[in-house]
Amino acid sequence: MQKIKAGIIGTGYIGISHIESIRRTGFADLVAVADSNSDLARKKAEEYYIPRCYNSIDDLLADPEIQVIHNCTPNFLHAKINEQVIQSGKHLLSEKPLARDSEESASLIRSLQKHPGTVAAVNFNYRMNPLVQEIRSRISRGDIGKVNLAHGSYLQDWLLYDTDYNWRLEPEICGVSRCIADIGSHWMDAVQHVTGARITEVCADLATVIPVRKKPKTQVETFSVSKDAEFEEKPIVTEDYGAVLFKMDNGAHGVFFVSEVSAGHGCFFNFEIDGSQASLQWNQQTADQMWMGFRDQDNRLILRNPNSLTPEAKQISYLAKGHPEGWNDAFTNNIQSFYRYIREGKQPGTDACSFATFTEADYIIRLTEAIVESNASRKWVKVRPMA
Ligand SMILES: NC(=O)c1ccc[n+]([C@@H]2O[C@H](COP(=O)([O-])OP(=O)(O)OC[C@H]3O[C@@H](n4cnc5c(N)ncnc54)[C@H](O)[C@@H]3O)[C@@H](O)[C@H]2O)c1
Repeated sequence: MQKIKAGIIGTGYIGISHIESIRRTGFADLVAVADSNSDLARKKAEEYYIPRCYNSIDDLLADPEIQVIHNCTPNFLHAKINEQVIQSGKHLLSEKPLARDSEESASLIRSLQKHPGTVAAVNFNYRMNPLVQEIRSRISRGDIGKVNLAHGSYLQDWLLYDTDYNWRLEPEICGVSRCIADIGSHWMDAVQHVTGARITEVCADLATVIPVRKKPKTQVETFSVSKDAEFEEKPIVTEDYGAVLFKMDNGAHGVFFVSEVSAGHGCFFNFEIDGSQASLQWNQQTADQMWMGFRDQDNRLILRNPNSLTPEAKQISYLAKGHPEGWNDAFTNNIQSFYRYIREGKQPGTDACSFATFTEADYIIRLTEAIVESNASRKWVKVRPMA
């Protein structure tokens, strides 16, 4: 059987994780990378023994061997490049957020409807941690009773100082929301995925803690610190922090907050779902364990053990108990689920999938817009229908 042939556009921070994950599937072959920074693309192609290297999406799309494209470029290019890939007939795995706004994402959904055979996914990778799937299975089989509350946070510190700078700080590149769109989107996806419910109404408070930042004269890589002494002062209009009260369509209520300025935190992603019988809690930093809370019996700390997981979690849990699986493994699980779907000839819209679809990712964008609107109006805002 032939391996599925893949190409990646964008060889920056997250592009490297895609390289490793494609290879770990075992049945997909990475044949080319492309980046507008040709030195970087060449360097990565050499370092990872990738046969071909291009400078643009046009070159990547023109490669007849490539069946799947991974879009790992900054947000402002997601809509444009995703659209080109859909038109080319190749399958598509886009980084999140799907686009900068709901107009762009709706246009992608319409294009996809005209290409029903195209498998298209958005990389909301946290949902594919085995214990996140375990929580989803336990909730759906009724282990915690009726879902009443959902709460948690996602905290980072990589933008703590006014000298920290990245393209995400510029709304033309990132979109009107930064912290909510960048990391809150992961939180909302995971919580909607495990509860099987949608957040429908929000009341938000967003804050820009650092109103002016020092932008280095040279480009700074994601999560790295600039050593450039030359900078210009840039006013910042997107949020460093956001807190969101919400209501879900299953009657549950919730709250989450996100921050990129909380010292000491790199990826403090956690959520708890409180039901009428029990609670379930998970934290990405201790990804191999989850907590189940009860009122009338002892609480349980559950350590991942493939032998006792539900079938949905077991199928994405590879290592024996006591051998920690973490961020990279969940990331690979997500990419693998996308490739399996293609390999098994499954039909989008008909066959169920575990990865996030464009429709789900479009909803997250509309949720993000409702959060921004609520912050501006200081009122509860309902998520709008598709643009
Ligand atoms: N799923 C996750 O957990 C996760 C984590 C980090 C980033 N991301 C997403 O991945 C995307 C990229 O983020 P990053 O942190 O890797 O950014 P980055 O800046 O490190 O990398 C982006 C790369 O795209 C390249 N690029 C820019 N314009 C281009 C063009 N016109 N054609 C080709 N290449 C171009 C840049 O040269 C750079 O190498 C973002 O949308 C981000 O939200 C997702």
